[in-house]
Amino acid sequence: MSKIFISPSILSADFANLERDIKRVEEAGADWLHIDVMDGHFVPNITIGVPVVASINKVTEMPLDVHLMIEYPEKYIEPFARAGADLLTFHIECGSDVKSTIELIKSFNVKAGLSIKPNTPADVLFPYLGDLDLVLVMTVEPGFGGQKFMPWCAEKISFIKNNAPKDLIIQVDGGINAETARICTSYGANSLVAGNYIYKSDDIKSAIKSLL
Ligand code: DX5
Ligand code: ZN
Repeated sequence: MSKIFISPSILSADFANLERDIKRVEEAGADWLHIDVMDGHFVPNITIGVPVVASINKVTEMPLDVHLMIEYPEKYIEPFARAGADLLTFHIECGSDVKSTIELIKSFNVKAGLSIKPNTPADVLFPYLGDLDLVLVMTVEPGFGGQKFMPWCAEKISFIKNNAPKDLIIQVDGGINAETARICTSYGANSLVAGNYIYKSDDIKSAIKSLL
């Protein structure tokens, strides 16, 4: 079986104890750290910006998986790359030019990801699959942690899998727990983002293990 990359979302961490909560998932065996950047325009919430990503980069060895839920991502690619992002994923629905934004991300030697919201069909990703390192299938409306998994969104994973280059990483985000993780990996997802399920559990290590 191929490797499944677990990316805990710090949206569900305690922001007053962010370093402690990052170390907790790192010590528990998480592969990447998922950082949800929201601008209050693309989604109805405001979260983390460039300076916080730069500070996080100083306290962890985990690759920083930065999920941009923002308008005009092209304006912020360079600052996030310089802050230490290892993967920058933006949304196809943001209205920016997709091809040039992917090229911009790669020009900083950062991995490029493209995401779709629940109501966006998977085939809009197809023209870009050869240029991307990762696609992110949202299984909740982006904006908040702790929402309920939408099973019909996960069905898009197998459609993408059947049309993607072999090394493309297919990530899923929203309402992931031990049960929904299984559904997603059976469709072909090989990266799982989980916020609430990991951070609200009493035993983070077991929670991470239960996703595999
Ligand atoms: C939602 C974010 C997710 C969120 C996931 O907009 O993109 O990364 O933190 O949280 P859970 O796992 O609690 O649904
Ligand atoms: Zn996310």
